[in-house]
Amino acid sequence: MYVIVNKFLLLLLLWSCYLRTTADEKGLFCYNQDGERVCGGEEFLHLTRIDGKEVGAVHKLYVDGRNLEMTTLSLQPLILEIPNMLTDEECDHFISVAKQEGLKDSSTGKNGGDNTFNILDIDNNKQLNVLEMRVTIENAFDVYLTDEDILEMYINTGIDKDSDGNITQEELGRIRPAEMERYIKKFAQLQPEKQSRYSQQVWLYPDKSVDKTFSQVQERVSEVINLPIDVVRLSNFQIVKYAVNGHYNAHHDSSRVDDNIPCCERFDTRQCRVCRYMTILFYLNDVEEGGETAFVLSENDTFATNQVEFSEQVNLYRKCSDTKIRVKPSKGKAIVWYNHFIDPKTKWMGSMDLQTLHGGCPVIKGEKWIANFWLRPTDDRKHDIERIKIMQHKMPRQQKTEL
Ligand code: OGA
Ligand code: CA
Ligand code: FE2
Repeated sequence: MYVIVNKFLLLLLLWSCYLRTTADEKGLFCYNQDGERVCGGEEFLHLTRIDGKEVGAVHKLYVDGRNLEMTTLSLQPLILEIPNMLTDEECDHFISVAKQEGLKDSSTGKNGGDNTFNILDIDNNKQLNVLEMRVTIENAFDVYLTDEDILEMYINTGIDKDSDGNITQEELGRIRPAEMERYIKKFAQLQPEKQSRYSQQVWLYPDKSVDKTFSQVQERVSEVINLPIDVVRLSNFQIVKYAVNGHYNAHHDSSRVDDNIPCCERFDTRQCRVCRYMTILFYLNDVEEGGETAFVLSENDTFATNQVEFSEQVNLYRKCSDTKIRVKPSKGKAIVWYNHFIDPKTKWMGSMDLQTLHGGCPVIKGEKWIANFWLRPTDDRKHDIERIKIMQHKMPRQQKTEL
């Protein structure tokens, strides 16, 4: 009898080992709901979106042995704020890792480049006034000059022959596009605060790092925003430093869905678009003055399609105080927003929320350090599941999703 029971136990043990390995090979996906961790096959995996309830609503959480509060700052776009989501030590750690890796000047990837640009003659009178020239330059070079800068450019280049502040077609013909580009690039180098983004940055790769802080923060993010850890691990991490005058004009962190252009993968060289389902922005220090994160549109505001209005919307370097939602940096605080809606059919990433237009106001005193934590599921659920499986496979065993 004793031998039979023993054999039975042994079989049971072998059977459970077998189950474990087959489950591992298939790759399991864990879904966090109401504090419960439900694991299952890939059919369980879908994206989530927090219900912000109403502006000012506070959701209390107990995560990682600490009490946290998530407050709804806005519903349209949905923005949530979580003070002290990172500890002071974690903030200091990220800053020191960034310093070790070395920060480089940020760029927005828009720089004219092909020596041509669209002339924006809004009133169609075949000449450019200062406003038209200003917006033409913004569109072509992502450099935001003041009206005085434009007039100074006219004097320095001699383009405005009759000095009337308007540039006719004939006057425009006096300067080659390449020459104009050189002038503006030089100008932007000397006055970097006139660029649409003035900061330094470094990319960090949690999956390539043995640094425990990354995985701890990923786990915490997964619990706080109620999104499967496997999806949270599809993330990029960027540390940004702004000095005085550092800022970032209003932009979207993701791009509009376009079935003809694939979402970029890491180090992609194809024509591709940036796809970031949501943004978790951590403030890594207290800023003495300025440096708020501003959301330009709220409730029923619309995204300007008129180029002049658009210019007025995005220029946070000048227009920060006009914005409706401004979040003050505070060490350890996180703000969270969804760059995309969920597609009701696929339960995966749907259309972009244009209302998320946002940027960083100029730092007035002190410096500002942030960490951008971009969650990167794409609009292709099947492909993402493959990416997750590859990632699970590569991860050291003890880091795999707990079964
Ligand atoms: C960004 C961004 C806002 C800020 O880096 O994409 O929007 O407050 N930053 O720095
Ligand atoms: Ca003129
Ligand atoms: Fe952003």
